[in-house]
Amino acid sequence: MLPKRRRARARSPGGAAASSALSSVLFPGVAIYLAEPRMGRSRRAFLTRLALSKGFRVLDAYSSEVTHVVMERTSAEEAVCWQEQKAAPPPGRPRPALLDISWFTESMAAGQPVPVEGRHRLEVAKPRKGPPNPAAAAAMPAYACQRSTPLMHHNSSLSEALETLAEAAGFEGSEGRLLSFHRAASVLKALPWPVTALSQLQGLPHFGEHSSSVIQELLERGVCEEVERVRCSERYRTMKLFTQIFGVGVKTANQWYQEGLRTLDELREQPQRLTRRQQAGLQHHLDLCTPVGRPDAEALQQLVEATVGQALPGATVTLTGGFRRGKLQGHDVDFLITHPEEGREVGLLPSVMSQLQSQGLVLYHQHQPSHLGDPGHLARQSHTMDAFERSLCILRLPKPSGAAKGADSEPRSTWKAVRVDLVVAPWSQFPFALLGWTGSKLFERELRRFSRKEKGLCLNSHGLFDPEQACFPVASEEDIFRHLGLEYLPPEQRNA
Ligand code: UTP
Ligand code: MN
Repeated sequence: MLPKRRRARARSPGGAAASSALSSVLFPGVAIYLAEPRMGRSRRAFLTRLALSKGFRVLDAYSSEVTHVVMERTSAEEAVCWQEQKAAPPPGRPRPALLDISWFTESMAAGQPVPVEGRHRLEVAKPRKGPPNPAAAAAMPAYACQRSTPLMHHNSSLSEALETLAEAAGFEGSEGRLLSFHRAASVLKALPWPVTALSQLQGLPHFGEHSSSVIQELLERGVCEEVERVRCSERYRTMKLFTQIFGVGVKTANQWYQEGLRTLDELREQPQRLTRRQQAGLQHHLDLCTPVGRPDAEALQQLVEATVGQALPGATVTLTGGFRRGKLQGHDVDFLITHPEEGREVGLLPSVMSQLQSQGLVLYHQHQPSHLGDPGHLARQSHTMDAFERSLCILRLPKPSGAAKGADSEPRSTWKAVRVDLVVAPWSQFPFALLGWTGSKLFERELRRFSRKEKGLCLNSHGLFDPEQACFPVASEEDIFRHLGLEYLPPEQRNA
């Protein structure tokens, strides 16, 4: 429901004409309505001015003319409820698309309306009315690969609390506790309604005593003492700080912590004990800690595509990782490179890297050669390691002109450092590589566990192997789900 005063404003007859008339309309087929109960007036006004200045048509009032409804921080369920309260469009006119703000920001960055893709849409989840149905909890499948997990869900503060405990368990090397908390958090993400009472957890998989008591405390008091204690602790904060450095894992971070090290400056004072990767990580730490936005990921995709296309015509570049799942931000940008003629991809990566280097765009890179030829290797690859050739890089991404100056006109850096992984897969393994690199990490773990425990098969980024280590031939991700007897989940539903 819109607040009263906005409803009143929305009915004002002059609204639509007023905003469209402010600047010339470049895209007459597109009429945007910014409808977000949580957007707030000033943000809505700012976004409206931005769109108008770029030649978009923005309607102040909702009407049958609207083609694109844009919402922010709104679940698909809320969006559909919102639309159901609106009058149905006249016969023959389709309902407008219900879109996440990502469509809007991408369109603004592109200077034109970008095509609507599945990841932009807020209509995937079916609307569910009334109180949560206990049968829904009982029907929640145990493996994350058996259920849809959208990016935006109804239980963020609860799942984040459990994920903090998972992360802290990981810092202590408690893999079992890490997984338990992650699995419980992931179940909350898949629930189509917000948890408001402890009784609603009944029948849900992966809710043991500990996770349940955390949720109980959060529901009753708004905070969980254990989670707050962890978040404030020196141990957690330092481990988080250290493991965020490129090239630093839990083991190294722990060793430094045990030695009494606490700050980045203390690490910088001892460069001799840092690897080349860690030195680069520390050098660009500020940039690398700043989330990479989707426009940056797309700019990098264009850059990598152009370079790859020049080095080997016909080779393809696919954006994977969180961005393929619809995330708007990420800690890095992951690309998968292949060529439809098996074998042509060999030798491609070094020439791509030297091309990027000659353009001065490589701040750091480490090439890892392929281990695909190692005998018996493929069926044995674990979930974190695969045998593909790759380059782990820090690239120098030019900032768009205009972003180079701050509001105070102070000159700022004209570029920023971004972590990029370039991975090369032979065509025949591409669907497995794509599935493996799309994530989320928990989704991948669950998928592999499901394959092993329920089907007796070994799945990794190279193939799906039977006990004789024979690989099933596949042409797509859909084929892999089919072989496993699973319903296909598009990337946007793999945010476990
Ligand atoms: P990321 O760590 O990049 O995670 O791995 P992400 O989901 O994209 O999230 P952010 O936004 O960057 O933090 C992406 C996927 O690639 C797999 C991971 O398991 C994950 O599913 N991966 C990563 C590998 O298979 N091998 C690797 O060496 C690294
Ligand atoms: Mn990533």
